[in-house]
Amino acid sequence: MLCLFVMMQMPCSLADDLHDTQRDDRRVAAEILVILGDARKFHSSKNLTVSQKKGLADRIRGGLASLVILIRIADANNQLIDMQNQKNIRQLAQSFGVNNLVEFIARLETTSKRYPLMALPMVKDEKTARGLHETYCAACHDDPVTDVERPAFNLFEQARQQTGQEFLARLIVGVRGDRTIGLRNPFTLKELAALSNFYKNTVSN
Ligand code: HEC
Repeated sequence: MLCLFVMMQMPCSLADDLHDTQRDDRRVAAEILVILGDARKFHSSKNLTVSQKKGLADRIRGGLASLVILIRIADANNQLIDMQNQKNIRQLAQSFGVNNLVEFIARLETTSKRYPLMALPMVKDEKTARGLHETYCAACHDDPVTDVERPAFNLFEQARQQTGQEFLARLIVGVRGDRTIGLRNPFTLKELAALSNFYKNTVSN
């Protein structure tokens, strides 16, 4: 689920402020929460068009493929080489493969507990967040075209419909910089926290 956009003109203050291993841990935890959120949405299928459902299934499959690698990296960083863990992840993917969504969701919930996403401190900085949103995000997200497989949903609405944790996870996984920074999320933790607070508390754009 890449939200790839060119950030060549982004100021240096947006450089990453996490150590690599912390970033890997955060990425794994976020990826699991996004897959879990997508799986719940896919299972209930509420308000989904046929093509959105297909897009969601593709996203889940893509997420699972990266999860296998991300977990391996995070475990290696934490010197936790656990073959059982790798087996659990394969079983997780299998339950989605055979459309056993109840089991899939239950397994994801267990995995998410093992790789929890640390909450961010509350940051209120509407000016920065609004500036970032209007410069880099609004063009695609404010007036979503929804009759496509993978829509760029309205972020203000998403923030209100989801738990703070899930929305933060989506911000971490969904936003990618360009190749010059290895496609990683270009925001600092403070900016992520400010954006998250801004989307949740702004009525609409
Ligand atoms: C060029 C258009 C474009 C721009 C610019 C853009 N996005 Fe996106 N974004 C998308 C699309 C399309 C998706 C859906 C991708 C998918 O489903 O795989 C998406 C997905 C996301 C998601 C994941 C939503 C989910 O359901 O998991 C988040 C969060 C997000 N974008 C935030 C942002 C933020 C924050 C910015 C600005 C910093 C931004 N995007 C800029 C097009 C864009």
